[in-house]
Amino acid sequence: MGLQSLEIQDFRNITTASLVFSPGLNLVSGENAAGKTSLLEAIYCLGRVRSFRTPVAAQPIRDGQSAFRLVGRVLSHEGRQIPIGIERQKAGLRVHFDRQPIRRLSDLAGSFPVQVLSGDTPTILNGGPRYRRQTLDWALFHVEHAYREVWQRYTRVLRQRNAALRTHAPVKQVIAWDAELLDAAAYIHGFRQKYFEALEPHLQAEVKLLLPEKETTLRYQSGWPANMTLSDALSQSLEKDRVRGFTHYGPQRSDFSLLVNGKGVVSHCSRGQQKVAVVSFMLAQIQLQQDQPAPRGVFLLDDLTSELDVPHQQRVLSALRDLDTQVFVSAIEPEAVDTVAWQEVKKFHVEHGVIQEVV
Ligand SMILES: Nc1ncnc2c1ncn2[C@@H]1O[C@H](COP(=O)(O)OP(=O)(O)O)[C@@H](O)[C@H]1O
Ligand SMILES: [Mg+2]
Repeated sequence: MGLQSLEIQDFRNITTASLVFSPGLNLVSGENAAGKTSLLEAIYCLGRVRSFRTPVAAQPIRDGQSAFRLVGRVLSHEGRQIPIGIERQKAGLRVHFDRQPIRRLSDLAGSFPVQVLSGDTPTILNGGPRYRRQTLDWALFHVEHAYREVWQRYTRVLRQRNAALRTHAPVKQVIAWDAELLDAAAYIHGFRQKYFEALEPHLQAEVKLLLPEKETTLRYQSGWPANMTLSDALSQSLEKDRVRGFTHYGPQRSDFSLLVNGKGVVSHCSRGQQKVAVVSFMLAQIQLQQDQPAPRGVFLLDDLTSELDVPHQQRVLSALRDLDTQVFVSAIEPEAVDTVAWQEVKKFHVEHGVIQEVV
């Protein structure tokens, strides 16, 4: 299982809550504006230290309060209980993992994988390249332990190169960073390529189940022209980089797309099918994560019955059950979600921000 328990203080309309979850299915019901999405958002926040619906600046602190606090207990792959604590004040953020303070958010990455499907979230289809890169980087943090270190190294060197460009430093000082930049970029590129190669068969298998008539492929763009090396791209764009004050090419500009029958999903699929393609992508990611010695992840399905039609709800839930993933589903009517196939189910009811287990 992923998340054993969660304590919440002053998160959106939830004043306080202390919850113990099922390792299988957790069903959260309640009327509109009761606080269902807020609970899922709090769980997401534990894994990502950000909300899935508000931009970073606007934090989900309960109105009139100065901070929110979350303490979750997740199980490590050895079965040890690890506390994760997040305290967000308007002016600052404190994060603890396993009782140690975390200084860089990327240090937390990989510790508690969370996926979410919600009408409020961007997806890999509509979220833009930055969102897709974040998705990809977070996924890699979970499956490649060396990725975090090299990603931090790349980010640091890129920041220094960009600072040199921005301050119109002499060319020498700009290109002084290139050797290390290229070295780290080569690792990042390699890890990403390997990840997509491993992901594609899982994705194709998922899509076969969920959209039987469709053939899916993934296309990865490295962040520089396909017909040249990054080294050549950097040399070619040096003048442009100096004029504009930033580095144009590199893994920071990479992107990927999902193709269905060789065409873009957005132009080629109905909205329902697009959601299913997005879910398939997430399920494939979970399959890759399951092979790793990392804490089990959780999957959040917000407002499930309005996101997917009944047959797809059932297929997605049964795929998650087969993957032995801990799932949180929110719905207005608890009866609308079929829980029969799950051995371990807990139900929670939310009313005006008060969450109670239904026994
Ligand atoms: N920062 C906040 N402080 C207090 N209440 C909030 C805050 N942000 C949102 N809310 C309120 O919390 C309530 C619950 O919202 P939500 O979790 O989206 O409900 P649901 O998903 O059950 O429909 C809403 O009434 C919303 O206006
Ligand atoms: Mg909601």
